[in-house]
Amino acid sequence: MAEIIAIANQKGGVGKTTTTLNLAYSLHQLGKKVLTVDFDSQANLTCCYGIESPNFIETNIAHLMMAKMEEQELPDKTTYIKSAGGVDFIPSSISLSVVDATLRLEMGSELMLSSILEELRGDYDYIIIDTCPSLGSLTINALAAADKVIITVNPQLLAMMGLQDFMKTVKKIKKRINTRLEVAGILLTMCDSRTNLCKVLKDQVYDEYNQVAPIFNTTVPATVKV
Ligand SMILES: Nc1ncnc2c1ncn2[C@@H]1O[C@H](COP(=O)(O)OP(=O)(O)OP(=O)(O)O)[C@@H](O)[C@H]1O
Ligand SMILES: [Mg+2]
Repeated sequence: MAEIIAIANQKGGVGKTTTTLNLAYSLHQLGKKVLTVDFDSQANLTCCYGIESPNFIETNIAHLMMAKMEEQELPDKTTYIKSAGGVDFIPSSISLSVVDATLRLEMGSELMLSSILEELRGDYDYIIIDTCPSLGSLTINALAAADKVIITVNPQLLAMMGLQDFMKTVKKIKKRINTRLEVAGILLTMCDSRTNLCKVLKDQVYDEYNQVAPIFNTTVPATVKV
């Protein structure tokens, strides 16, 4: 049975997609069966898997979400699960932004993604969801589907901004929708440990959040290799 992990932070450009891609590939290298879900209408993860025109893919996560909302049967898995470098993935496209708007009008729509992924849990060891940079209905759906959330934080930007709001949302979702949800940890990405600013911000994250959520000892260095 798969563990479902959401990679999230409503801030943009903090390494969510890069973490999803590399974590999934690393778990595959350890012999695990992994599915990633591109749950961002920017479709960056889909592009990372070599799909240059995500809008032309016949079935993507937006279609599955729409089908769930319309109480329709999902198509066969083989039509929407793609594979690259040993990792399976469900692609996204710009049409996920329409889903975002529709979800807001739909009653009880928080568990749409969850109901899609529950059907796939038996096929994988890990399902990793790459989320979009917002705290809207798509991210709520991702957190409602997840067992754990990894919060990526880039200590070079205004790292702490919005983190409190994000934690508040996690708490609410855990209480109201998904009691399984736990913060796996805060992952510091793009750390340039040579700079003083990075050290100062890293200490600040530890000071403010050490009591609230685990912070991974491992940090991701800022390097083009990643
Ligand atoms: N450790 C790293 N070192 C250097 N560059 C990185 C690192 N991690 C990510 N990047 C680069 O930083 C940019 C933002 O990363 P990424 O797309 O993973 O962030 P994101 O949080 O998914 O962004 P968005 O919120 O727009 O979805 C990308 O150009 C990526 O290649
Ligand atoms: Mg991204």
